[in-house]
Amino acid sequence: MSRRYLVWALCYAAIGMALGIYMAASHNHGELVTHAHVLLVGFVLSLVYGIIHRLWLEAPRRGLAVTQFALHQVAAILMLLGLFLLYGGKASEETLAPLLGVGSVGVLLGMLLMLYMVLRPGSARSAEPGAPDRAAA
Ligand code: HEM
Ligand code: HEM
Repeated sequence: MSRRYLVWALCYAAIGMALGIYMAASHNHGELVTHAHVLLVGFVLSLVYGIIHRLWLEAPRRGLAVTQFALHQVAAILMLLGLFLLYGGKASEETLAPLLGVGSVGVLLGMLLMLYMVLRPGSARSAEPGAPDRAAA
């Protein structure tokens, strides 16, 4: 799961940077908020989730991990698409409100599900230096 998150994170980074270069080149910063969230909700958050999987999640339940991944990606795409259309002036805020609402609440639920996986007994290990690694025990 950490590699899958890493690949998605790098794809968001490429898209976000391309949008940043387009904004700079066109002297039109209208999509600033979209650019910021493609990079932060897409790239940074996916990378952080990948790192959490790598460092802390020893044995997450597969169904939970797949659900959390799919929820984050689907919600992020809905939210980012909504922001792109909104800041591009392609549709009104009223039209996009359901997309942005579902997307942003989905991103939040993805975060809460990750918190649950980290707290769930038996799924996370302590990353404290010197702490016994249950996988190795
Ligand atoms: C190829 C690389 C990048 C280019 C060309 C680029 C370009 C831009 C431009 C033109 C703006 C608008 C500035 C303004 O109007 O105030 C901006 C804003 C922003 N960028 Fe980038 N960017 C790049 C990479 C990144 C990365 C890697 C991140 C974060 C991980 C990032 C996060 C942000 C944020 C948060 C803002 C909004 C700042 C504010 O609130 O004023 N950018 N970027
Ligand atoms: C549920 C997810 C999120 C929602 C609904 C949300 C919503 C918003 C809104 C409404 C703004 C103000 C936009 C404006 O200037 O008009 C904003 C700005 C910003 N958000 Fe988020 N955000 C979310 C997640 C995040 C995350 C995870 C990060 C960082 C890791 C982040 C970083 C920022 C930054 C840096 C700005 C200022 C950029 C700018 O000048 O537009 N956001 N966000």
